[in-house]
Amino acid sequence: MTVKKQVAVYQGQFGQLNRTATLAFFISSIMEKDDLILPKDFPTLKNDAFLSACLGQETPHVPVWCMRQAGRYLPEFRESRAGKDFFETCRSPEACCELTLQPLRRFPFDAAIIFSDILVIPQAMGMDVQMVAGKGPTFPDPLKEPEDLLLLQPKVDVNKELGYVFKAITLTRHKLEGKVPLIGFTGAPWTLMSYMIEGGGSTTHSKAKRWLYRHPEASHKLLKMLTGVIIDYLLGQVAAGAQALQVFESHAGCLGPVEFKEFSLPYLRDIARKVKDQLKKSGQDVPMIVFAKDGHYGLEDLSQSHYDVVSLDWTIDPRSARERTGGKVSLQGNMDPCALYAPKERISDIVKKMLEGFGTRGYIANLGHGLYPDMDPENVGAFVEAVHTHSRHLLNLN
Ligand code: CP3
Repeated sequence: MTVKKQVAVYQGQFGQLNRTATLAFFISSIMEKDDLILPKDFPTLKNDAFLSACLGQETPHVPVWCMRQAGRYLPEFRESRAGKDFFETCRSPEACCELTLQPLRRFPFDAAIIFSDILVIPQAMGMDVQMVAGKGPTFPDPLKEPEDLLLLQPKVDVNKELGYVFKAITLTRHKLEGKVPLIGFTGAPWTLMSYMIEGGGSTTHSKAKRWLYRHPEASHKLLKMLTGVIIDYLLGQVAAGAQALQVFESHAGCLGPVEFKEFSLPYLRDIARKVKDQLKKSGQDVPMIVFAKDGHYGLEDLSQSHYDVVSLDWTIDPRSARERTGGKVSLQGNMDPCALYAPKERISDIVKKMLEGFGTRGYIANLGHGLYPDMDPENVGAFVEAVHTHSRHLLNLN
């Protein structure tokens, strides 16, 4: 629409205003919009507990956030998402911004995580992915044989294909008004590869693992391709305003230690090293978190993989995780999400024990995986409060 036409529309809407007032209103509304969209002049950060903990620095309390904190357990989330296609929502920066902010209006979380999905990367590489109600993510045409790799876009222009995520990050960073830092994220190569071959969720991951044993070369080719896209994608997220990055290797647990060392770890390392090296060139750094769910056998390796934080699922004991990582990294996690079904007093006791196990320094409280849709928001609030209260108490004792 031309400016002239847009002014005419505004005059139509505000017929009683004179022409000058209408123009002033129009210009200020455009300026405001432009200011919001540019990845610069972000509001000053008021709560840096999360970023300090990532770097092992002292904090006044242990910071806390939850994986899937923007999710279906919140009635306002269900209302915003009602009747809308999941990936359409992911492509709307305004919708992603609103969904990201929703949990922060309810709970004093110490970080926000951008609402999006790990499967936007296979989409950017040319695959069709749909979110089917009651079934989860579904690929109508998954990769079947190594020849299918030729169908993928090997070099992805992330600004063109995933610019909508960058816009969501920039908008959200402005709208957060510096309340807490904003986390960007990606799926890790093996987890994305397994979705692209399985075509959706799986208990055995046998189709994807078949590739590892039968087509190791093609597997490495695909993992390498994904790694390249992921690095560009994460750098784009930082340029857009992400203040920390989490890499989700959600399917680490279906690999054994040998396969993990060959097909997951080298790519996780490559991602952190290359993102950090590239950022360093412009004098930047952002904390990077790796979450290899059920990959307890890889804990020592993960703590020496250029990440600042290792995020843990609930199968790992806090004290042994500290011993095994030897102070090389900060730790994040790891309450069993199902503990949120317990009464509030019990949640408080579990949190206290968890804090005593991890200690208060270099620690970010979280769950061992995402929140489930049937969880009671009140208990999520009790979890957050317990982390803040008990950690303040423990810190005062020190
Ligand atoms: O943590 C957050 O609040 C940020 C948003 C976020 C979502 N997905 C939103 C989402 C993040 C970080 C993800 C990552 C993601 N997506 C992972 C890695 C983390 C993990 O859970 O291990 C994975 C494996 C996916 C793929 C995916 N997307 C699954 C398995 C599902 C659930 C499908 C179902 O029906 O239960 C999704 C959908 C999804 N992504 C939802 C949300 C809030 C729920 C669906 C909806 O809102 O309609």
